[in-house]
Amino acid sequence: MTASKANPDTACPKCGAAVEYGAHFCGECGTRVEHVAPLLALAPERTPSPVADPVALGNKSYSKARSVDKLVGRTLNGRYLIEKKIGEGGFGAVFKGKQLATGREVALKILHPHNVGDATVVARFRREAEACSKLRDPHTVITYDFDETEDGVLFLAMELLSGKSLQQLQKAEGTFAPLRVLDILDQVGQALGEAHRLGIVHRDMKPENVMIETRNGQDHVKVLDFGIAKILSGDAARGPALTAIGQTVGTLEFMSPEQLRGKALDGRSDIYALGMMTFEMLTGQLPFKNAKSSTEVIEFHLHKQAPAPSQMRDDLKIPAFVDEVVLKMVAKKPEDRHANVEEMRDHIAKVISDADGAVKRKEIMRVAAVVGGLLLVVATAVYFLSR
Ligand SMILES: Nc1ncnc2c1ncn2[C@@H]1O[C@H](COP(=O)(O)OP(=O)(O)OP(=O)(O)O)[C@@H](O)[C@H]1O
Ligand SMILES: [Mg+2]
Repeated sequence: MTASKANPDTACPKCGAAVEYGAHFCGECGTRVEHVAPLLALAPERTPSPVADPVALGNKSYSKARSVDKLVGRTLNGRYLIEKKIGEGGFGAVFKGKQLATGREVALKILHPHNVGDATVVARFRREAEACSKLRDPHTVITYDFDETEDGVLFLAMELLSGKSLQQLQKAEGTFAPLRVLDILDQVGQALGEAHRLGIVHRDMKPENVMIETRNGQDHVKVLDFGIAKILSGDAARGPALTAIGQTVGTLEFMSPEQLRGKALDGRSDIYALGMMTFEMLTGQLPFKNAKSSTEVIEFHLHKQAPAPSQMRDDLKIPAFVDEVVLKMVAKKPEDRHANVEEMRDHIAKVISDADGAVKRKEIMRVAAVVGGLLLVVATAVYFLSR
């Protein structure tokens, strides 16, 4: 679309190309687009959803509540007791709770009051929760139930995890050994693979959304919040999630170029975000560590080549085969990344097996050299003794 045809509210101020709602940058020339600022004003979906009841929403007093904290002690639809707040994000808060019928401990994710006054959000919440409840992978948190109370509290009951988030673990332990990182990537990849096959793109992969439990002394990964970002930001072409509001940098750190441009997303966008997370696990830093503003972070995602993790921390002796995997994951163009998570996991398996092979070959050469040396000594001794 040319400048003259584009709506001035949705046109790039530099080249005049049409810019979709939610995009931070012009897809044509990469110029920052200031007018798209209030993400809350993203164009809502036009088709009314059969599951939402906009009239009823008018009576839902929860949407006027100031915070979620007063929910502690309350029972939701006679089924779940809210016991204690675990944490809070841009979208809602997570509480420890109990399923009254069974006594089972659960985690209850409850939407912030300001999100539930919008029928579209409520409809999307139901749709996404329904999609997530189909996910069965052992590395995806189990969604048990989702519902809404009469006064408008929207909640999701899920498996209560006992581990730490990847973010907490990184804070506590610093950098991870490369082989541990590859194992975590493989497990996250398994969870993403199932979701991608069902058409669910995560859209908000970040260390806070990956929990790590310890099972038999090994890391057991669980991925959280599939598709949650979409509930607030809408479909693929609607750009960054509303979770970005007030904590834009937090989400921007892992966001793919196509997501920043508000383009349609597929699983390769999650691979990019996972690649960014990998830099942090390996080196304790993100590849744009010198960026001074969110604009510079975005500029990095759109245009700057990431350095190899081994260059960022040459003290850690990160193997070249790990660089190879990570740099492919964070290629700027989706077509230069792994085509899907299965390909990414195969790549990981191959570099590990090649590295094992190289270690074994080295060991065989070492043993051969020792045996050869011994034989030489014996042969020399036999020669001198027989004279
Ligand atoms: N099923 C769960 N079991 C145990 N703890 C959980 C569970 N789900 C989430 N948490 C904890 O609750 C915290 C808050 O999660 P929440 O998803 O609300 O915020 P976030 O991940 O930081 O941001 P966002 O809203 O963008 O996802 C998480 O960091 C995590 O530690
Ligand atoms: Mg989360």
